[in-house]
Amino acid sequence: MTRFVFNTAATLDGFLADTDHSLSWLFAVEGGTPDAPEHADPFAAFLASIGVTVLGSSTYEWLLRETSALEKPEAWPDAMSGKPAFLFTSRDLPVPAGADLTVVSGDVRDHLDAIRSRAGDLDVWLMGGGDLVGQFDDAGALDEVQVSVAPATLGAGQPLLPRRLGPDRLHLTDVDRRGQFAHLTYAVGRD
Ligand SMILES: NC(=O)c1ccc[n+]([C@@H]2O[C@H](COP(=O)([O-])OP(=O)(O)OC[C@H]3O[C@@H](n4cnc5c(N)ncnc54)[C@H](OP(=O)(O)O)[C@@H]3O)[C@@H](O)[C@H]2O)c1
Repeated sequence: MTRFVFNTAATLDGFLADTDHSLSWLFAVEGGTPDAPEHADPFAAFLASIGVTVLGSSTYEWLLRETSALEKPEAWPDAMSGKPAFLFTSRDLPVPAGADLTVVSGDVRDHLDAIRSRAGDLDVWLMGGGDLVGQFDDAGALDEVQVSVAPATLGAGQPLLPRRLGPDRLHLTDVDRRGQFAHLTYAVGRD
């Protein structure tokens, strides 16, 4: 059955990006990002489990800036690890030519069937940001949280998951050291 999995890197104090949407703290980590070649096996296994990705517009705009995919559309599939994607935005944002990207907005409940359908027998990768993942949890569609905790704090920034989920709902199922990252996996239970 298709599961909804939030997999991300975050700072030790629970931010996905700084207040300017920069990930410089992440790229400064010795040994690179959690998906760098030396951590490739677990990340490749995760990607093999994924049929579709979901992202919010800040994350999308960051990816566009990083990859220049509007000018070089051939860069987009790699940016999405070859997966189709659903973009949540209320704006009319530009899309790289030929991108397998479905643009949606509003209540996530209205889009769950379409997202599950694109995932087929595989899982859904919720890339973020945190509030969008929270909206999926509000809709009963968050099954697992995987966080690669970076050796950095920011004090402020874009929050990891701005919802209240207690130990009654989060169950630690795995801990994996990936270089300087602690990769934590939690099963998410329902109320
Ligand atoms: N550390 C990591 O590995 C990692 C992972 C993911 C993301 N990030 C970074 O973290 C930051 C996250 O930014 P963010 O917190 O602003 O989150 P985001 O989810 O990327 O973007 C939020 C925006 O998405 C749109 N949106 C969200 N829900 C929507 C809905 N239901 N319907 C329509 N539009 C919706 C809204 O913008 P509009 O409607 O105005 O378009 C909203 O302001 C980004 O800088 C990203 O690059 C880091």
